[in-house]
Amino acid sequence: MKDGQRIVLTGFMGVGKSTVAKCLSQFLKIKHIDLDKFIEANANQTIKEMIKEKGEVFFREVETENLRKIIEETDFKIVSLGGGAWVFEQNRKLIKEHGCTTIWLESSFEHCWRNITSSKNVRPLIRDRASTKKLFDERQKYYCLADWHFVVKPELTLFEIAKRIADEVI
Ligand code: S3P
Repeated sequence: MKDGQRIVLTGFMGVGKSTVAKCLSQFLKIKHIDLDKFIEANANQTIKEMIKEKGEVFFREVETENLRKIIEETDFKIVSLGGGAWVFEQNRKLIKEHGCTTIWLESSFEHCWRNITSSKNVRPLIRDRASTKKLFDERQKYYCLADWHFVVKPELTLFEIAKRIADEVI
């Protein structure tokens, strides 16, 4: 890993950000923080409960606050974001100002949708297929602002994706 390099993984829900980040942290022996888990540990509440009780606008404020804390106060080498974090300008600015390398894990909507619907993890912003597809389409223009872009093809395991990222970026 290059000296001082810090990696941020983004991409739509269900693409496998947390798993790829976990693989990278295991085989490179670098510290990984998952933004959603960090938020939940600090708030002592799940994101699902937070959004249900206080709404998405509140959650987005907490998300930015926690992202700032991770970037400015921890020694992370790789952070996996929640799927919406990179969409907000203040978060992209924060990440860029601190010189982090951003990687977009891209996949087809079908692939993400399959993972979303088969996961035990119930995501609070998911209603139905049509509204999720709309969100997916709207977000592409933000994700493509990342520094790097890796396509997650169904024939590749997330471990193989992580290996490729390690070889090409880190
Ligand atoms: C969100 C994605 C979730 C979580 C929250 C909002 C989003 O994370 O941060 O439910 O807006 O896409 P994952 O991408 O890990 O599911």
